[in-house]
Amino acid sequence: MIDIEFVRSRFIKHFDGKTGNVYTSPGRINLIGEHTDYNGGFVFPGAVDKGITAEMRVNGTEDTVMAYAIDLKDRVDFHLNDPAGPKASWARYIYGIAKEFQKLGVDVKGFNIAFAGDVPLGAGMSSSAAMESCFACGLNDLFGENKVSQWDMVLAGQATEHNYCGVNCGIMDQFASVFGKAGCLMRLDCRSREFEYFPFKPDGYRLVLLNSKVKHELAGSPYNDRRNSCENVVKAIAKKHPEGTFETLRDCTWEQLEEVRAEVGEEDYSRAHFVLGEKDRVLAVCDALLEGDYETVGQKMYETHYGLSKEYEVSCEELDYLNDLAKENGVTGSRIMGGGFGGCTINLVRADLYQKFIADAKAKFAAKYGHEPEVIDVVIGDGSRRLC
Ligand code: GLA
Repeated sequence: MIDIEFVRSRFIKHFDGKTGNVYTSPGRINLIGEHTDYNGGFVFPGAVDKGITAEMRVNGTEDTVMAYAIDLKDRVDFHLNDPAGPKASWARYIYGIAKEFQKLGVDVKGFNIAFAGDVPLGAGMSSSAAMESCFACGLNDLFGENKVSQWDMVLAGQATEHNYCGVNCGIMDQFASVFGKAGCLMRLDCRSREFEYFPFKPDGYRLVLLNSKVKHELAGSPYNDRRNSCENVVKAIAKKHPEGTFETLRDCTWEQLEEVRAEVGEEDYSRAHFVLGEKDRVLAVCDALLEGDYETVGQKMYETHYGLSKEYEVSCEELDYLNDLAKENGVTGSRIMGGGFGGCTINLVRADLYQKFIADAKAKFAAKYGHEPEVIDVVIGDGSRRLC
């Protein structure tokens, strides 16, 4: 986690010398359940020990926000009443959360904010959700008497992505960032929003991320196309079955998908096929974990990678190669993590194979792509909170 004093020193330097309150929110991993959140399915994420830390203070103005992104050394001032909002993409997260809080009835006024992060950007670890949740946590404390519920903070983060950043995401990332708990993964039913904490201490195994450093950028990306494909299939099924209620792919069966195959075309069919399989895999992984059956967990992770690569088509050459290297090294489970199009693989590896796998993956990946993948050991941490 980012050192509080580091953020504080920048906050003091860039504004009027006064200190504020400090808030932090984490990025996340996801063991399994990818692209299922906006399809009403299950996800299985956990918060990590890396995220975004922000110092914030009410500045006494009606609507002026003075914001400093410490890592980018970029200062942007903007007005909450300006309907266009700031141009800088990082500042739009602050603007978006503030606007969404106003919609919730919170009387957000001018404030100063400086923030920094240690969750890698564009790595599929939800750096943007970490920002949204961190800013939401701060605004709730500064202007909302902490009365905005955790779920409303999650939804304000998601709405920020939809309304100000161009990504039609689901709720997994913001959920994990707000609700995270050290040592626990969380199984969330994205339709009912019920969830359970799962203590996660795989004896004799380690979870490690390999970051390909291929930057994934979800805004204006094929991410939204994938979501459209899923919605097309749901519409086609609903039309064929006027007697039923079909809101998302969660409500659809394998048979119904087959019925509309010709009509929706192979691309949309394959994407929906992946989603139906993924829904079942999350539940199978939860059952296997309860029995300590890591072989099944790992096998499902490989199946997910295959589906994300060949059916959902959100992989890239580098991620497929990292997956192949995991297989070659006898790693128990490995797959793309997050939205795809770059970023990390998540690997469940036996502790006795760990050193050899990491060394081999680094050497072979570097020989092929000219740089080593970044190795990120996963530590499951707590969700959004005020630090001081
Ligand atoms: C991104 C989105 C999430 C989710 C994942 C894929 O991280 O923000 O809502 O859809 O991709 O599982």
